[in-house]
Amino acid sequence: MEVHNVELVMSAVDPKQYPKTGQPEIALVGRSNVGKSSLTNVLINRNSYARTSSQPGKTQTLNFYHVEDALYFVDVPGYGYAKVSRSEREKWGQMIETYLIARETLKGVVSLVDGRHAPTADDQTMYTWLSYYDIPTLIVATKMDKIPGAKWNKQLSLVKKTLQIQSQDDLLPFSAQTKAGKQEVWQWIEQHAFG
Ligand code: GTP
Ligand code: MG
Repeated sequence: MEVHNVELVMSAVDPKQYPKTGQPEIALVGRSNVGKSSLTNVLINRNSYARTSSQPGKTQTLNFYHVEDALYFVDVPGYGYAKVSRSEREKWGQMIETYLIARETLKGVVSLVDGRHAPTADDQTMYTWLSYYDIPTLIVATKMDKIPGAKWNKQLSLVKKTLQIQSQDDLLPFSAQTKAGKQEVWQWIEQHAFG
C-alpha cells in the first residue's frame, strides 16, 4: 500500500477509548527499543510521525494510527524494559492482554525481534502467547542493516529455530535504515487486514 494519509487517532489506555469504525487493526509488539515506531514510520512513509526515541520505555499507551482511512496500526508499548516498576509492568500486561485477546478488529500482530541476536526469553514468551491465542503473527527481524548480507540467512534461521516459527511466510528481515523488507511487510499486513 502506498500511504499518503495518516492520522494519530488516539493514545488509549482504556478499551472505551479504542476506535469504533470497525476497520481492521494490525498491532506492533516487541521489546522496548527494538524499532516498532521506526517500522511504523517506514510503512507510512514518514520520517518521524511515530515518535522514536533513545529513551526506551517511553511509549506507555496504545497508539492507534489511522492509515489511508482503511486500517489502523497499533503501536504497543515495548516489553522487557528493566527500569519499569513491577506495578507498571503488571498494568502494562493487563492492558496488552485485554487488547490482544478481546479485540475483534485485530487481524494480525507484527512482532519485532532484533535481527542481530537470538530472540530473548521475553520474545519467546510473547510469541508462544500469541500462538496459544491463535493470533496471526508476523515475526520481523529488524536492524538487519547492522549485520552483513552474508550472515542474514544464518540469523534468520536462528530466529526461526528459537521461536519455533512454523511457516516461512511468517518471518521477514527488515531494516528501517535501508527500508529493506518494506514491501514484504506491507504485503503480509494487507493480506491479513483485508484478506
Ligand atoms: P519503544 O517505543 O521505547 O518501545 O521503542 P521502539 O520499539 O518504538 O523503538 P524505536 O523505533 O524508537 O527505535 C529505537 C532505536 O533503534 C532508535 O534509535 C532507532 O533509530 C533505532 N532503530 C530502529 N530500527 C532500526 C533499524 O532498522 N536499523 C538501525 N540501524 N537502527 C534502528
Ligand atoms: Mg515506540
